[in-house]
Amino acid sequence: MDSNNIQRPLAETRFKEELEALKANDSGGKPANWALSPRGVRAFILGANKPLLLGKEKVTVTQKFYGDDALVERAIVTLAGNRGLMLVGEPGTAKSMLSELLAAGISGNSANTIQGTAGTSEDGIKYSWNYAMLLAKGPVPEALVPGPVYIGMEKGLITRFEEITRCPLEIQDSLISIMSDRVLHIPEFGAEGVRFAMRGFNIIATANTRDKGINEMSSALKRRFNFETVEAVKSVQLEGRIISEQCADLFASSGVEMQIQDDVVEVLSTTYNELRSGASFEKAKIQKLDAVMSTAEAVSVYFQSALDAHYYRDGKIRMQNLTENLLGAVMKENRDDLPKLKDYFSGAVKLKAERLGGIWQEYYESRRVIK
Ligand SMILES: Nc1ncnc2c1ncn2[C@@H]1O[C@H](COP(=O)(O)OP(=O)(O)O)[C@@H](O)[C@H]1O
Ligand SMILES: [Mg+2]
Repeated sequence: MDSNNIQRPLAETRFKEELEALKANDSGGKPANWALSPRGVRAFILGANKPLLLGKEKVTVTQKFYGDDALVERAIVTLAGNRGLMLVGEPGTAKSMLSELLAAGISGNSANTIQGTAGTSEDGIKYSWNYAMLLAKGPVPEALVPGPVYIGMEKGLITRFEEITRCPLEIQDSLISIMSDRVLHIPEFGAEGVRFAMRGFNIIATANTRDKGINEMSSALKRRFNFETVEAVKSVQLEGRIISEQCADLFASSGVEMQIQDDVVEVLSTTYNELRSGASFEKAKIQKLDAVMSTAEAVSVYFQSALDAHYYRDGKIRMQNLTENLLGAVMKENRDDLPKLKDYFSGAVKLKAERLGGIWQEYYESRRVIK
């Protein structure tokens, strides 16, 4: 396998050096089977205040998740205890990213993951059988095909359960005994069929509040998790920083050499922030959109516009193209938002164009594409 050609390597691969440097400098107490101490995991996700020495090299540990340091600290402590961690929130608030970073920091492995869908089965979570072998030899250990929960328990790893509320309720509930007793029973093995969870095993689940499934989750299962609500970032500056950093990473991994245009980032982060909050600096009247105005969408609108500029133009993002991509992002979710988006341009954006001119004027003029 050509590892340079992997589209998106796992966090433990992308940040291999950082993890090694943190390990080499980690003096804090570690829960059993953790790769790093809770302090180390915190630094991995929120950044270290000074470069760390790894051999002769200095390694900078970057901040990866922005906005709520206390939430990250609580999440780490939860995972050291006997309850699972449930990250809930709107789409695009970095729940999956945070889950991946936590698993990479704690277990050095974020790949032990279940993707929840309406079709997720208990076999896919716990274990299934190699049927050819099962028929030939009966239920022998070699015939068992372990699933992510089995592997997590056996190796003492964090197991990730993405979009858990999309799974049927009875599948969700099959986790209850595992979460409380920390044992998995394999009836086919008879008296030998008890598997105990090794220390270090725990579950990080994510759920979107827009899926409306959280209310239906059984209270027995809810009690096995600590819930943390991940909110969208609230500051324009922070959102701009996320857009810049994520797009710089995307450029690097797609082999595109481009500078980030700070003024374009500011236009975009301001737009997302104002349409999400319904409030603008100029106190213009803004109707909040029903579409999810997530930072993840803002990142992709910028990246999309930048690629257009790179491949078809002189490398400078055109506001018209940015607005087209913004429109696409909004319309795929909710067509009723169109008039609200128009109003945003003829209100808040117009005022900014008058006050600041320049790129805001260009942005205001690009409103023609919103039809
Ligand atoms: N608070 C944040 N800190 C860092 N990046 C963020 C933040 N919020 C959103 N992002 C960006 O948006 C993306 C969120 O994607 P994802 O983790 O898939 O969201 P979710 O699982 O909540 O739908 C991240 O990869 C990152 O680019
Ligand atoms: Mg997700």
